[in-house]
Amino acid sequence: MTPKRVLVTRHLPEGSLDPLNDAGFDVVQHGETSPLTPDELSDEIRRVDGIVCLLTDRVDRRILEAGAGRLRVVANVAVGYDNIDLAAANDLGVAVCNTPGVLDDTTADLAFLLILAASRVMSDAERDLRAGKWTGWAVNQYLGQDVHGRTLGLVGWGRIARRVADRARGFGMQVFHHARRPSGESGYVSELDDLLRAADVVSIHVPLREDTYHLIGPRRIGLMKPTAVLVNTARGPIVDEAALAEALHANRIFAAGLDVYEDEPNVHPRLLSAPRTVLLPHVGSASVATRTAMGRLASRSVVDVLCGRLPPTLVTV
Ligand code: GLV
Repeated sequence: MTPKRVLVTRHLPEGSLDPLNDAGFDVVQHGETSPLTPDELSDEIRRVDGIVCLLTDRVDRRILEAGAGRLRVVANVAVGYDNIDLAAANDLGVAVCNTPGVLDDTTADLAFLLILAASRVMSDAERDLRAGKWTGWAVNQYLGQDVHGRTLGLVGWGRIARRVADRARGFGMQVFHHARRPSGESGYVSELDDLLRAADVVSIHVPLREDTYHLIGPRRIGLMKPTAVLVNTARGPIVDEAALAEALHANRIFAAGLDVYEDEPNVHPRLLSAPRTVLLPHVGSASVATRTAMGRLASRSVVDVLCGRLPPTLVTV
């Protein structure tokens, strides 16, 4: 019997592909330097039973149709899967898997890093120091907002949001959350607008879907306190970047900490110049251990699907 063939769209951290290799699969790994173009991906996908891909690979209907007949599984090395056309995969009988669970603490650490850094205007202060513009200690310089004693409003109440809540309580914050369905837990706020009006820090932890696109737009930013801090480690298009940049320039909210953008790797120029804004290049889950665990989980899911077993992380429409 010919071995199953699996395409891995980029080099992954060492050990990530062990489950595929242990299963005796034929693994085709794409080079490190550049992602596959859509044409290359649709050409490669015809010859494989499964792919391990990244959030930078757009796996749309055209690509999935190119693989139709042989392709049985697409495993995304990410918890978000908005880069994959789930409906098309479902129509074509292709299983879609992601990597929840293994990145919660690492991503929550980064969200909290942004909460602290934005609240304490870290980027402005560090930028001045590096540019030789710091003239010495001054009592009114780089004054931020405390985090202790303030309220954190979590938009979404999934695994990562809960881990951020644990960290926030340790830092003396009071935590509220909003989710589409009542959580039945203390701190639940049924109306997003009420959460935004009340929170000192707002942190976003919902997936990107049609109903979450620009969830935080000009009207909702307008509800936030002038001292509020907005943090986004989920997906860029959930926040209207232009509206956020204008609010920061106009001092309508205090600060922002962002790890994700509407059109990565491009960042809105008004955000790049916005005051009190901490900008990171989508590194929420970027620790060696976590990225390896994500790669292994995606590989294991591919093995399970191709061996006729239920994978640990099946995404359904
Ligand atoms: C990263 O953004 C992920 O979805 O895992």
